[in-house]
Amino acid sequence: MTPLFVPPDHFRELAPADIFPDPARPLEIDLGCGDGTFLLGMAAHHPERDFLGVERMLGRVSKTARKIGVRQLTNARIMRLESAYTVAWLLPRASVSRLHLLCPDPWPKKKHAARRLVNQAEFLDGLVRILKPGGEFLLKTDDQPYFEDALLSLESRAHQFERLDWPEDAFFYPITDFEQSWLDVGRVIQRARWRLKSA
Ligand SMILES: C[S@@+](CC[C@H](N)C(=O)[O-])C[C@H]1O[C@@H](n2cnc3c(N)ncnc32)[C@H](O)[C@@H]1O
Repeated sequence: MTPLFVPPDHFRELAPADIFPDPARPLEIDLGCGDGTFLLGMAAHHPERDFLGVERMLGRVSKTARKIGVRQLTNARIMRLESAYTVAWLLPRASVSRLHLLCPDPWPKKKHAARRLVNQAEFLDGLVRILKPGGEFLLKTDDQPYFEDALLSLESRAHQFERLDWPEDAFFYPITDFEQSWLDVGRVIQRARWRLKSA
């Protein structure tokens, strides 16, 4: 198994065993994983879980794959693909225990707000499709408008998602590279966590 995951077919839904050999293990997704600091930190801390990073920039994908290889983490892989497509169409249904969306591109211009993942029905429908019942969606952002959009979007799907508390230090959760750079300049990081209700 190589650190770089290339889907066997980009146009059909994956089977869980395409990604990691044992589908019985919890699978977590780091969407827009950047240089992979969070992905690697989680994989090292949780050898009993599997972690797939999704990232569209080639340099970041290569760097992350290299780091996974050097650290010999067999429970972490990275895939170069677009986030919304991955969630809406590619990942196996009811397969994901937690999906992390950490410091996503904020699309700050009002005319670009529809590009925020949390504003896209395709993405939200995809989340419902890929999360296991009781699976979680975790978001961190330094961008207040993005955060407010997320709260509204998920609230409008209260029949599907229930917001959970997320106190500081509730569980192991490494600070990401972008989060650290925002903290260094005094920006506030907002976070929220939702659980997919059982059907
Ligand atoms: C602001 S960075 C955050 C990186 C990392 N999550 C962190 O917190 O340090 C956003 C990352 O998401 C990636 N990204 C943005 N839009 C994407 C998309 N549609 N599909 C895949 N990756 C995307 C970018 O290339 C970038 O690496």
